[in-house]
Amino acid sequence: MIRKVRTHPTQNEPLLFEISRPGKRAYQLPELDVPPVDPEAVLGPENVRPDLEGLPELSEVEVVRHFTRLSTHNYAVDHGLYPLGSCTMKYNPRLNEALAQLDGLAWPHPYQPEETVQGALEILARLEAALAEITGMDAVTLQPAAGAHGELTGLLMIRAALTERGNPRQKVLIPDSAHGTNPATATMAGYVAETVPSNAQGMVDLGALERQVDESVAALMLTTPNTLGVFEQNIRQIAEILHAKGAMLYMDGANMNALLGIARPGDFGVDAVHLNLHKTFSTPHGGGGPGAGPVAVKKHLEPYLPVPRLVKTEAGWKWDFHRPRSIGRVRAFYGNFLVAVRALAYIMAMGPEGLRQATLDAILNARYLRQKLEPYYELPHKAPTMHEFVLSDARQATNGVRTMDIAKRLLDYGFYAYTVSFPLIVRGAMMIEPTETESKQELDLFVEAMRAIAEEAQRDPELVRTAPHTTRVGRVDEVTAARRPILRWTPDLPRE
Ligand SMILES: Cc1ncc(COP(=O)(O)O)c(C=O)c1O
Repeated sequence: MIRKVRTHPTQNEPLLFEISRPGKRAYQLPELDVPPVDPEAVLGPENVRPDLEGLPELSEVEVVRHFTRLSTHNYAVDHGLYPLGSCTMKYNPRLNEALAQLDGLAWPHPYQPEETVQGALEILARLEAALAEITGMDAVTLQPAAGAHGELTGLLMIRAALTERGNPRQKVLIPDSAHGTNPATATMAGYVAETVPSNAQGMVDLGALERQVDESVAALMLTTPNTLGVFEQNIRQIAEILHAKGAMLYMDGANMNALLGIARPGDFGVDAVHLNLHKTFSTPHGGGGPGAGPVAVKKHLEPYLPVPRLVKTEAGWKWDFHRPRSIGRVRAFYGNFLVAVRALAYIMAMGPEGLRQATLDAILNARYLRQKLEPYYELPHKAPTMHEFVLSDARQATNGVRTMDIAKRLLDYGFYAYTVSFPLIVRGAMMIEPTETESKQELDLFVEAMRAIAEEAQRDPELVRTAPHTTRVGRVDEVTAARRPILRWTPDLPRE
């Protein structure tokens, strides 16, 4: 049985600017509860204008309907499976959202004196401790605002430590199965990114690594489980090879949802690791909202953590700015606080057993899908996969149907698409990550859709090549949309 395809209205949605009519209002400001001031006197007449020209004028119901309609044009985890590999698009409990909206947590100002925000500081301290325990590391910074930002923070700390030892070194090694942000980060940190090849199982080729590691190498950045969903089984040996030459092991731990409660980076030789709270710990990924990429380090990197650091004093929690060996601040204030709130709430609600179970379910769901889809699609890397796996379009390509076509056809079946053409080491890659929050029924519907598309690719390839057929917008020119986006409606444009 295939999920009923959602129907999409076909008319073009007018912009708020286009339905605007002079004089309509949708807001009512509360009575002033402070003495009124004359804006011209305070700001200067040159900074005050009588009107905001060109803003749309609408009634409340028009605004509500406009945005509600727009929200129905989108696909979200709240609609169904969102198997976008590498992104961990899982359902995040509503309770954690409600907690993040509590007045006492949502409204404190970062400039408030420490003694007035002891509860907020306690939350940050407890989260640091929980993440240190989960990763098996010694200290954690919550400052970085995203995964890639965490990577940069980690590499800058490694650079600072090596510089203090006398030589920051020149290269950072990165397996070809790494996440795409890794080489970009290495370059931003002032290193030359050098690729390490994978072996047939999709793991680091140890022989190649051994040949590449010398005194010019600062670190290896290792995504594990990697973008094939494969765990590096030789991780201890990898750490030893690096450490023997004075280099460090940086782990991209954004895929920690495949390890929680089962394995700890600190136990297998990692020097620094970042986590993506917005993948693993209950902040929705995507949609442009804030994230957080905390970095956990071993003792020897602790002096370089960004300032300020939280310290417990007799008077309570304080920010310590006096850390002479720190790499400095990497972000304003103390990180995205409400992301930290959600993460701690999630960790406390799940408990150690719950986190472990989430990991087991993420792996089980991925392996179930992989096993169910293998009869219809090529599986180039056969090593056991963890939370995600990568198929290839090799069989369908013989009929001219490529990974992008299959992804577009999935939209007609009422599912969001998998990740297309990534990782690059698999030609025609279809990277699928179901996550732990999906039921067997939902996974079975997805299998059914993928099976039906494989059959269509044989019987009627044109149908798949020209998909989607039921969405409001068909295929867009993605290159032009990315390179020459039109992001602003100009009032002077002729209205059609
Ligand atoms: C494995 C991995 N590393 C790094 C990142 C980058 O994280 P961010 O997008 O928060 O910068 C991601 C993002 O999904 C990821 O999956």
